[in-house]
Amino acid sequence: MSDRASDFRYSTGAAKVPWAAVGEHLNLDDIEAILRFLVQPQQGREADYEAAVVAARRAVADMFATGGPATKLSLDANVAAVEQRAREMLNCKYALFLANATAGFEIAYKFAALKPGDEVICPSITFISTILFPLSQGAKIVFADVDPRTVNMDPADVARKITDRTRMIVPVHIGGYPVDMDPIMDLAREHGIMVLEDAAHAFGAWYKGRAVGTLGHFGAYSMHEVKNITACGEGGLLVTDDDTYGPVLSLARYVGLDLSQQIPNWLYDVVCLPSEKGYAVPGNYSVTEIQAVVLLSQMQRLEQIIAKRREHAHYLNERLAEVEGILTPPSDTDEIKPTWHLYLLEIDPGVVGADVQALKAKLTEKGVTNIPHFAPLYKFQLLHQLGYDHDAIAASCPNTEEVFNHRFTHLPLYPLTFEQVEYMADAVIEAVEELKAGK
Ligand SMILES: Cc1ncc(COP(=O)(O)O)c(C=O)c1O
Repeated sequence: MSDRASDFRYSTGAAKVPWAAVGEHLNLDDIEAILRFLVQPQQGREADYEAAVVAARRAVADMFATGGPATKLSLDANVAAVEQRAREMLNCKYALFLANATAGFEIAYKFAALKPGDEVICPSITFISTILFPLSQGAKIVFADVDPRTVNMDPADVARKITDRTRMIVPVHIGGYPVDMDPIMDLAREHGIMVLEDAAHAFGAWYKGRAVGTLGHFGAYSMHEVKNITACGEGGLLVTDDDTYGPVLSLARYVGLDLSQQIPNWLYDVVCLPSEKGYAVPGNYSVTEIQAVVLLSQMQRLEQIIAKRREHAHYLNERLAEVEGILTPPSDTDEIKPTWHLYLLEIDPGVVGADVQALKAKLTEKGVTNIPHFAPLYKFQLLHQLGYDHDAIAASCPNTEEVFNHRFTHLPLYPLTFEQVEYMADAVIEAVEELKAGK
């Protein structure tokens, strides 16, 4: 009898004939292919690189001689370890590691059981994935205007836009700067509305002593390759403290498969998810153990990464605050700690004598990457195709129009060297001074 347990999604104990449908394991060739992908040759050093690959392959072969391949590649101990670590870091009750933040939103929206005609209040400025699922359900997105100093959702405008059809509010912590959540949660309590935080940029941000993303009923973070930490290119975390939905998060991630229940002659049952209106149908948003291993490793570096970002951001703030016409973003305080995913650069076009589009063109000339800054979603064709009236929404979001067209863009912070950040500060100052001089 083999002492190795069967290695499908559930353990059936030690078996002479293990569960064979597990598929192929990763062998030496696969691992070499991964290494070649992750570490690419420098131009001119190809021969040295090939020699290094041979040495690495030999080292991995030595490891195989003393061990065996991982037999469980999806949803296992490392995924559980990510979730455990997330609960500790965020001080929340339930955490689910899944394919991406968009999948996390989708699950939370399913719990809310949106139906056609329900209204969901989202900020005008965010990434499209914040609103895709409610749109797919025929719900109506109501765009809240932004606070011009943070480009985050303005709670005062949310209050104006609540109706008796409002089912959800979705604050988005743009660039990792916390939305002012107290007034949002007050409104939610007053009107019985569910709050889903789009914390895609905000894993590791703090608001008044609590982790951003755990302040609403649900929060979802992104571990996509362009976020502060990544789960091998894609990944997300959904968190909640809710005792109805929290215990079924893993059913929501993987097809409603419930190992705690069996049907006759079969090992498991498949169940619906609870929702505000009865039941919701689950989907498949699984992640791999390899993603989990990478994310666990990066989670250990998160504080260091945010500290470096903060150092760069505070340096930019010091330099740019000296310049008339530049509005610097708020620095860290005891209560508000952003993740500094992006640096919000804002100008006063009245003082500079030109708007941010002219500034961006100058920065490009000076070799400073021009991040395509977040556009108001109602400008995208997708919304137009679904019948949204651009002009009417723009009229209801005056700050959005002003900041997008004239005032803000984002700058990168990491992983830049100090010299690059210094160059960026010089370039921004030079560009603004040139614009002021009419050049
Ligand atoms: C504000 C915002 N929300 C959501 C997402 C989606 O994240 P994911 O790619 O993990 O689904 C992004 C991704 O860039 C984002 O910028």
